[in-house]
Amino acid sequence: MSQLYVGIMSGTSLDGIDLVLVDFSSPAPQLIESLHCTFADSLRQQLFTLSQPGQNEIETLGLVEAELATAYAKATARLLVKAQITPAAVKAIGCHGQTIRHRPDGRFSFTYQIGDMFRLAVESQIRVISQFRQKDMALGGQGAPLVPAFHQAVFASPTEQRAVINIGGIANATLLRPGQPVTGFDTGPGNCLMDLWYQQQGLGSYDQDGAFAASGQLQQGLLQTLWQDPYFSRTGPKSTGREHFNQSWLTAALQGFTLPAADVQRTLTRFSAETIAASLPQGIAQLYLCGGGAYNSQLKRDLKQLLPQATIHSTKALGIDPNWVEAMAFAWLAFAYDQKLPGNLPEVTGASAATVLGVEFSY
Ligand SMILES: Nc1ncnc2c1ncn2[C@@H]1O[C@H](COP(=O)(O)OP(=O)(O)O)[C@@H](O)[C@H]1O
Ligand SMILES: [Mg+2]
Repeated sequence: MSQLYVGIMSGTSLDGIDLVLVDFSSPAPQLIESLHCTFADSLRQQLFTLSQPGQNEIETLGLVEAELATAYAKATARLLVKAQITPAAVKAIGCHGQTIRHRPDGRFSFTYQIGDMFRLAVESQIRVISQFRQKDMALGGQGAPLVPAFHQAVFASPTEQRAVINIGGIANATLLRPGQPVTGFDTGPGNCLMDLWYQQQGLGSYDQDGAFAASGQLQQGLLQTLWQDPYFSRTGPKSTGREHFNQSWLTAALQGFTLPAADVQRTLTRFSAETIAASLPQGIAQLYLCGGGAYNSQLKRDLKQLLPQATIHSTKALGIDPNWVEAMAFAWLAFAYDQKLPGNLPEVTGASAATVLGVEFSY
């Protein structure tokens, strides 16, 4: 008897919507079908605007929530056509929603993942589980990262220490060490600064394979300036987002430097690699990369140079395509909700308790 769940993830890169169809009826989740749908330009632009700090307009928020839900529903319909199944065959959609603000620190912490989930449920004719981060935050946690519980469920080894590094707009690391509690945190920028710079040069949406970065020289002065951000001296639990690592951050960091564009790209790539490498404890020799940054060859060369003793794989080596790990994690969180299993790891997020995450939206 299959246990089919759809996972929907659209991350901080704003490159589009990742969808998976996963069967959880056996211990190892089976990826049945997957699909990537790019955002319409106007929707991407509005989401980008909403995710910038400042005064946002409520009218835009309402309209964008509805439009995003319809984009998710249309993408889900396409996924089911690819998989040749009907909505009735799917138990639920686990939908992350689009983060437009994440403020995990301070007395009144909050996090917003938008999308009209009732509309998604009605238009797709499938129950939706969403709002995964709020309960963890109410319990004093960061509400992030949530992927470590899934990483633990599918990637942990009884004998080997492993780090799973998801390089999306922001990068996060999960440390899986036999006999020790799982730890996980956002290491800092993954692709977001590299993407911003590349786009600002009018070269396209991202630096394919890190080729532009590879053509530039590493600039130590800029690298040192980038490192000055207090986020990197904080210990976990910690999480971050676009409200921090954004265009204003980059512009401020570049103040006073006049450098060839390729050198900046090279240095930003190195910076992502260094912040990832510096966050890993000694003794973790097996690294498994996922997320779009797993395809950036320059970033991988830098990681290898910084961690000469480590072997760098993609999660493919553990049976899951690096493109679909995050969306699968949200399908898994919907499955965990149905099984009444905790979705957070308090040692990762800092919440006071492990708890079932999510809210159900019926159609
Ligand atoms: N072939 C590639 N070479 C370099 N970078 C890539 C490649 N493919 C994807 N990326 C990077 O991955 C990003 C998308 O990653 P993704 O895991 O979807 O992040 P998010 O979860 O934040 O949306 C792109 O914006 C780009 O920076
Ligand atoms: Mg993405």
